[in-house]
Amino acid sequence: MSSNNAYVNDDAVGMTSFSTVPEPTSSSSSEVQPYELDEVKINESGFKSSRSSSLSSIDHDGPYAGMPKEVLLKYSRQKKFVWARNILFGIVILTILTLISLVIAIIVISPPCLDYWQTSPIYQIYPKSFKDSWSPPDLGLPDGETDGIGDLYGVIDQLSYFEELGVRVLWLNPIYESPQKDNGYDISDFRAIDETFGGMDAMDKLIEEIHNLGMKIVMDFVPNHSSNQHKWFQASSDPNHEEYDTYKDYYMWVAGANANDIPNNWVSEFDNTTSAWTWNAAREEFYYHGFYAEQPDLNLRNSVVKEELRDILRFWMEKGVDGFRCDALAYMLEAEHLRDNPVVDSALPVNKANIYADYTQNYKGVHDIVADWRALLDEYSTEPGVYRFMQTEVYTDNIEETLRYYGTERAPEGDFPMNFLLITADPDTEWNATSMSGKVLEWMRNMPAGRWPSWTVSNHDNSRLPSRVGWGLARCAAVMIMTLPGTPGFYYGDEIGMTDNNNIPADQSNDFRDPERTPMQWNGDGDFAGFCENCEPWLPVNQDYVDINVEDQRADSDSMLQMYKRLISLRQEMVYQRGYFCMLEVQAGNTLAFIRELPGLSSRLVLINFDESASGDSTINMNLEYDRYLPATGTVTFVSQSSGSVEVGRQFDFGGFALPASRGIIIDFERQDTLFHEGGENECFIHTKVCYDKALGIVKTC
Ligand code: NOJ
Ligand code: MG
Repeated sequence: MSSNNAYVNDDAVGMTSFSTVPEPTSSSSSEVQPYELDEVKINESGFKSSRSSSLSSIDHDGPYAGMPKEVLLKYSRQKKFVWARNILFGIVILTILTLISLVIAIIVISPPCLDYWQTSPIYQIYPKSFKDSWSPPDLGLPDGETDGIGDLYGVIDQLSYFEELGVRVLWLNPIYESPQKDNGYDISDFRAIDETFGGMDAMDKLIEEIHNLGMKIVMDFVPNHSSNQHKWFQASSDPNHEEYDTYKDYYMWVAGANANDIPNNWVSEFDNTTSAWTWNAAREEFYYHGFYAEQPDLNLRNSVVKEELRDILRFWMEKGVDGFRCDALAYMLEAEHLRDNPVVDSALPVNKANIYADYTQNYKGVHDIVADWRALLDEYSTEPGVYRFMQTEVYTDNIEETLRYYGTERAPEGDFPMNFLLITADPDTEWNATSMSGKVLEWMRNMPAGRWPSWTVSNHDNSRLPSRVGWGLARCAAVMIMTLPGTPGFYYGDEIGMTDNNNIPADQSNDFRDPERTPMQWNGDGDFAGFCENCEPWLPVNQDYVDINVEDQRADSDSMLQMYKRLISLRQEMVYQRGYFCMLEVQAGNTLAFIRELPGLSSRLVLINFDESASGDSTINMNLEYDRYLPATGTVTFVSQSSGSVEVGRQFDFGGFALPASRGIIIDFERQDTLFHEGGENECFIHTKVCYDKALGIVKTC
């Protein structure tokens, strides 16, 4: 039996058992004199190294590579090596401590990071009109033909377009299962994607592809109403339905003696002079609908309904949706006392323009609901890099009421309420420098401290911007929203200057907002502007597609599309994302002027001439008011549209510069001694006070 193997096979019994290692014999240690270094105590254990005999013959004057442990120990105990070791050890510890303190210092002085919804513009896709690549198979269309309705496969096909634009956040108008009475805002299943858009398979694929590209997807969330085809309403409106008891209180039912016994003067948003109450013969009751009769209002005082809505949000967040645009929040609650809304002028018919919607809009309680959703979204925002964004849709003519949807410090609501001040500006009287400055300041002055603004000039509910204000001012508007502090949002086709299509034949018309919802104009070829290969588009393509389309504008360096791209890329600069915003007053014509500045970086002056007339050129003399802040000259770094006199790279003389009509330009300049926000006489705003540290190459709080 081998004695120095720790595992011994016991032949006799055929089992493996432990055995002790034998003590080394005295002869084995005495045979070899491994090293002739008398002060080195080696072989204390008595074991010999197989290498020791071969090395024993080599002479060494000091430590050497490959020395055995015993030799190493001998040298390492010498004073000079002990010192060297200690010093090295000290250096390592010191370096680690310095690095840790540096990291802590950088964390302490760094401002909170900006998130995707702050750094990227939000691009609004109207899926029905964006790109038609697919049709439900059961339509049985011939090969190569599609149904004329845009779909999610179409969005997937065009994802590289957003990379080209530099946009990272996409908001999609409703794609849920819907009878399409209100183009998807009448939802019959909140957890299903309509087959015409490609169903859930397409949605899963879209989410995955968007995320693979590092982009984010925001969905519409419609809590105020469902479709009358929703199974909840089907059950709720029929006392004989087997689930009647479960759903009877899901909607706003009010008893009446008969169909003429209308509960009060509340009017629907859409049918204007028509009552917001519709009689249901089966229940012999009225139901309330703030919008079309096919969109019954959900009963948001019913906690079961509220829980359903929370569950719907959970469902989409679990699918990976990054955020929500919350629809029509002002309409969520109505007064239970059912009193008439006050009428503005009793001599005139009661319609939505002639009432104060005191009991039907922004009614007390809505903010608790929104804050509750924000808290729910926060529960789904805990993983690193995951944040569920919320923007809220509320049109009011009262800024405080609008801004209330930011919530409070203790009960935050949306990341921002959508800002409709520019969309609702009257094209005839308010598209001028004075009104625009007033609107911008109205938001900035009233916004709660520490919150983030947003700007937009068009959407699917409003006439397209060039149709409202012309192309020159449409470009100016883009310059403004991209260089103001906050998040700009734009609507598909804005980037090429799409206009309203006012030639929609009666038999194709769906809705009063059709003109601004026609197919995206990808190219000037064929009959369908690249919206589909071969289809009958659900709304006719605007015939100006031969001139206004993505492909042609790609090739034209001075096009609207190229201007948008330049602006989006400019907006990545720190000074636009984090810098001070100071509104200036320029005593020249119709010019809006503001400054973006961030200590440590060069500053920007944005000048927008809102005068469109042939004689609208304006000579600007910035030195009249701002001499002490400005150097003699700066450099033009952006022009909304080239023109003989103004071009990028040209010197800008602050003492006198001719700005052509309906142009937006940006001037870069180096600061004088005082920055605009330091002077005390300008109205300036900042989200978080930061400075750029040139030495460290970082932005820090200051
Ligand atoms: C607001 C949406 O933007 C609009 O398109 C819709 O018709 C209403 N909400 C009703 O849902
Ligand atoms: Mg409601």
